[in-house]
Amino acid sequence: SQELIKRLEETIENFPDFPIPGIQFKDISPIFLDPKLYEDVIADLVAFSKGKIDAVCGIESRGYLFGIAIAVALEVPFILIRKKGKLPPPIVSEKYDLEYGSAEIETREGQIKKGQRILIHDDLLATGGTTEAAAKLVEKQGAAVAQFSFLIGLKDLNGDQKLEKFGAEIYNILEY
Ligand code: PRP
Ligand code: MG
Repeated sequence: SQELIKRLEETIENFPDFPIPGIQFKDISPIFLDPKLYEDVIADLVAFSKGKIDAVCGIESRGYLFGIAIAVALEVPFILIRKKGKLPPPIVSEKYDLEYGSAEIETREGQIKKGQRILIHDDLLATGGTTEAAAKLVEKQGAAVAQFSFLIGLKDLNGDQKLEKFGAEIYNILEY
């Protein structure tokens, strides 16, 4: 809602040129100082996914802050998508390119079940590289990406174009 967007805009702090020049860093940490605002954010994300998913995948680390609460509210499993080297084997992994170099994300094998409708959740959609890799990781385990949700979408980076091919619904509460 417009009211929720306004409260978030007043709460999220923008830091130009952090952590490197050219990046507009959006600090979401003040949301957690305001439990009522946090509850309303979760309610909004839950309303988007209610009845449409069988499990939530959250992307380390800021994707856990809201993702677990969404899963608990919907009474569905929560699966951690972690950065490389944090999970014990057997794992399933997916590599992706960064501006400089590459990265890799992983899940424990068997936690995503074949045929599940998955919500992939993260705090922020920027270039879409991380989320695209997460969606590939889900699909190669025989599950379907039903939805993507984010608190924030950075419109100018066109991250949603990278996600179109998965044929899933995309939602962000607010855009910059
Ligand atoms: C940030 C953000 C998203 C990702 C978006 O995470 O939380 O996960 O980058 O970028 P992209 O759309 O260009 O891939 P970051 O890697 O900074 O780590 P964190 O969540 O652990 O803070
Ligand atoms: Mg992140």
